[in-house]
Amino acid sequence: MEHEHPDLVRAGRRRVLITGAGGQLGRALAQEFAADSQVVALGHEEWDVAHPPSERLLQGGFDVVLHAAAWTDVNGAEADPQGATAVNVGGTANVAALGAPLVAFSTDYVFDGCKREPYVESDGPNPLSAYGRTKLHAEAAAGPDAWIVRSSWLFGPTGKNFVRTMLRLGAERDEVAVVDDQRGCPTYVGHLASAVRELVDADLAHGVWHVAADGDCTWADFAEAIFHEAGLACRVRRITSEELGRPARRPAYAVLRSERPGAPSLPHWRDGLRACLAEIAR
Ligand SMILES: NC(=O)c1ccc[n+]([C@@H]2O[C@H](COP(=O)([O-])OP(=O)(O)OC[C@H]3O[C@@H](n4cnc5c(N)ncnc54)[C@H](OP(=O)(O)O)[C@@H]3O)[C@@H](O)[C@H]2O)c1
Repeated sequence: MEHEHPDLVRAGRRRVLITGAGGQLGRALAQEFAADSQVVALGHEEWDVAHPPSERLLQGGFDVVLHAAAWTDVNGAEADPQGATAVNVGGTANVAALGAPLVAFSTDYVFDGCKREPYVESDGPNPLSAYGRTKLHAEAAAGPDAWIVRSSWLFGPTGKNFVRTMLRLGAERDEVAVVDDQRGCPTYVGHLASAVRELVDADLAHGVWHVAADGDCTWADFAEAIFHEAGLACRVRRITSEELGRPARRPAYAVLRSERPGAPSLPHWRDGLRACLAEIAR
């Protein structure tokens, strides 16, 4: 597969296709790449990736495809694993069929969380949930020539995410109950999008890359930081995952770090949180 990226970037005519462009990461990617690329951003309605690409897309001449479309309802995947598989595994195979250099996004939920030190790319996956299993199979469906970017706990100024949920609850209530026995790296989509650009622009080697915010915390720590940064006087009651009783099991420990030379490094999650809140306030 030929990679012409550096020249195309200079000439400002790189053609980038983004799937799932209405999602939180899809939007951030479109914003990030629009500066020097011709971005074709397709939302769910424009291309349902569970269906094969149209002839027009196959002839699209894309220099890179950023595949941000996914079934991301982790609990919903337990009830409908086949539906989640059709979108995540079948969808990734359909996107890979375009034959263009591909960035596919994956997750810390491919791990079981039994480790107590950061997960690196060579660690063996063992997903606990239906969603995690579909994402692991999706990595294989992306093919050996793809960049597989595993990230974690994404949040941004739009869509459904923990920061936006806490801002809403924090304004309505005096106290919220938040799980304190899952640890990860809350990653701002704007920071992830610029790291993806770094990966693509430098034409780093294909394969799995762990790309998550610096630092780590529990969901309860994260909620407290959100209330603090947003100036909300809401208390956090720390609970266990068992008390919350969600259908899908999540890894207790899901800190991602890269062991690969040249891996993009991201700012601390607290900087990501501040950047996100500033974006929301604009
Ligand atoms: N969110 C996280 O914490 C997290 C963590 C690690 C990795 N990831 C991965 O990062 C990627 C982006 O996630 P995100 O947080 O941006 O998710 P998101 O905000 O839920 O965006 C996903 C987008 O995909 C669209 N979509 C769903 N089914 C589709 C289909 N069949 N065809 C085309 N589009 C479809 C959704 O549209 P509708 O809204 O219309 O369904 C939505 O716009 C995904 O691969 C996800 O697995 C996410």
